[in-house]
Amino acid sequence: MPIRPADALLCADDGEPLARLRERDDDGPMVRPIAAADRVARQMLRDLPGRQVETPDDALAKALVAAGATLTRSATELQHDLEDLPDPVALPAGWSLSAAGWDGDLAAALDAAYGPDHPDGGWTDNDTTSVRDMFERSDPVPPLLPASARLVGPDGRSAGHVLCAGPVPWTEYPCAWILNIGVGPHAQGNGFGRALLLHALHGTRDAGQPVLALSVVDGNPARHLYDRTGFTVVTRVLTLTTPAA
Ligand SMILES: CC(C)(COP(=O)(O)OP(=O)(O)OC[C@H]1O[C@@H](n2cnc3c(N)ncnc32)[C@H](O)[C@@H]1OP(=O)(O)O)[C@@H](O)C(=O)NCCC(=O)NCCS
Repeated sequence: MPIRPADALLCADDGEPLARLRERDDDGPMVRPIAAADRVARQMLRDLPGRQVETPDDALAKALVAAGATLTRSATELQHDLEDLPDPVALPAGWSLSAAGWDGDLAAALDAAYGPDHPDGGWTDNDTTSVRDMFERSDPVPPLLPASARLVGPDGRSAGHVLCAGPVPWTEYPCAWILNIGVGPHAQGNGFGRALLLHALHGTRDAGQPVLALSVVDGNPARHLYDRTGFTVVTRVLTLTTPAA
């Protein structure tokens, strides 16, 4: 019996609630256990076979993996409020932040920044398509232009960007979201990542959004940049695929 969509509960066969489910469009349900992790995992394998699921709960993720599910992503959701922001960073001579957009130089910079060994996996054609769809078709959401920007070097070529949207439909709280931030390796280590992040924070405030949030995968050294800039943890997000029935 198990899933009662009306109240978004995963229940045992006798009706006892075992977990809260929040259904999202693409990412599968977010599962928050009420009962012991191994009971929830067993019921999920029966009632949610072959599904992508997310949970903030390490014990449930562990129980699911022990029962045959595959952990596909471990990440942390962070957010930054918009009070008392540090001043925007002044860039070295010749460098500027320009209107957000897409071009071949930016594609090459991101391809190099997200190399094959990057914890998010390498930059793919799908990533390029996703970014272009945002600019060209507002799909799945339009860019939040005041919070987004392209980093342009003294040679006039794009060397990185920050791409934000907001409000976004996938969080439980209203916020703007950083979908992507990257600086080409040739320009890294000069403070441009921090400059893009502060631009995003100020732009989010200018756009009237309440907070700026993002997800960073475990092991990405960019986490250091977010911690240093004052982002705080909202929740862990563990993504798993349950075995087919
Ligand atoms: C994350 C990224 C945008 C940072 O760009 P950057 O221009 O090199 O960053 P900055 O020079 O502004 O560095 C800011 C701080 O973060 C630290 N930092 C940045 N990248 C780091 C790395 N790879 N490892 C360790 N620390 C790093 C810097 O040491 C600096 O710390 P400090 O303020 O204590 O001196 C860049 O490394 C990148 O494009 N990475 C690949 C794409 C990516 O992972 N994006 C984030 C997805 S969530």
